[in-house]
Amino acid sequence: MDRIRITGGRPLTGTIPISGAKNAALPLMIASLLTEEPLILDNVPRLADVALLQRILGNHGVDVTLSGKRAGEPQHQGQTLQLSAARIVDTTAPYDLVSRMRASFWVIAPLVARMGEARVSMPGGCAIGTRPVDLLLMALEKLGAQIEVEAGDVLARAPKGLRGGEISFPKVTVSGTHVALMAAALAEGTTVIDNAAREPEIADLAACLTKMGARIGGAGTSRIVVDGVPRLSGARHTVLPDRIETGTYAMAVAITGGEVLLEGARADLLHAGLNILAEAGVQVTETNAGLRVGRNEAAINPVSVSTAPFPEFPTDLQAQLMALMTRARGTSRIRETIFENRFMHVQELARLGARIRLDGDTAIVDGVERLRGAPVMATDLRASVSLVIAALAAEGETTVHRVYHLDRGFERLEEKLASCGASIERLSG
Ligand code: EPZ
Repeated sequence: MDRIRITGGRPLTGTIPISGAKNAALPLMIASLLTEEPLILDNVPRLADVALLQRILGNHGVDVTLSGKRAGEPQHQGQTLQLSAARIVDTTAPYDLVSRMRASFWVIAPLVARMGEARVSMPGGCAIGTRPVDLLLMALEKLGAQIEVEAGDVLARAPKGLRGGEISFPKVTVSGTHVALMAAALAEGTTVIDNAAREPEIADLAACLTKMGARIGGAGTSRIVVDGVPRLSGARHTVLPDRIETGTYAMAVAITGGEVLLEGARADLLHAGLNILAEAGVQVTETNAGLRVGRNEAAINPVSVSTAPFPEFPTDLQAQLMALMTRARGTSRIRETIFENRFMHVQELARLGARIRLDGDTAIVDGVERLRGAPVMATDLRASVSLVIAALAAEGETTVHRVYHLDRGFERLEEKLASCGASIERLSG
């Protein structure tokens, strides 16, 4: 299994191109199941999760063709995928595929909406909590699907098609909102989604569905109204930049010092995160080319933050912020309110010399003068990258094991950091 070796202590200086957002690309790819015509997605990041979803969609009969960068395109443009679901050959998504990526469960929505049936194994994914799918199934039921659970599979049926309905989520859910949007797009009549997630990736999916002919109002707000249409067409759409990758590299620059241009990054996708960085003493400037992030010799200030749905501070940056706060001058409090088990990085950060106590859903981080390199490993994507961030500031050598977690969500991580002066390399085997 690959490892990453980092020798810490070097400031980051240069330019890091920000890739397309993983958490937008995945639902956009799944939306290809809604139409017989090709959906072309630009700026798709090259990630293990994207490759796995290509296989899962292929199993349903989606033809995926790839083309790389075209001449003259900026460096941060990713790959172009053409997904064509002209004929769906199988409405079953089996355990061995779905168990490896939670988002693949979302195929249930387009399959039942277009084909009237779907059989999808209960999902797996990162080990960050129980992560049920009850709200996704509730949304489908509100649109008239009959749901049964059989031998670990969810069976959804709507032989006469879905019909519009009122969906009111008792808690904000990104997955529930994606599923509701895709299903409602092809349902007969009007659907109202209340307490919808407002994440930019929801608005990106809605924008793409709209190009495909869907009639959607209010995406990006907590009340979305969808007037169903009988069929959707093909379209071309560019995946928005990854706000979590942006925040992650901003934290990396914050902990090492230096100055980096995060090329293609957009401040409007990450206000809460950038405000916290400003509180911590990090300079962030918006430019035409992206966000410029820097920290001079000044100390890192401690912060208090709670994760919450967009537009608040994202849970997907909680581990990275914690890594940064291990080096703050003072005590920080970081509360996790989205997932109940998303503190697995705490023990590993401690191996690097961090001082962190857990009090229920809150981590109390006492900043230390220095971190020291050590072998570490993490059990999920964002936790793994938090160890990379800490390692960049640690004295000596850190080896991060189980790199496949990083490959799920960070495109060319070592290359991007090395180009800004980090001492980082991948060791195979
Ligand atoms: C998405 O997961 C992201 N994944 C996650 O990113 C992210 O952490 C999360 O949203 C929150 O922002 C993708 O977009 C592929 P939720 P999702 O449905 O949609 C509970 C990463 O590292 N819930 O908003 O699965 C759930 O347990 C990943 O890139 C139910 O109770 O998250 C959680 O506590 C990890 N019942 C809360 O809602 C349900 O049916 C929010 O989950 C569904 C969710």
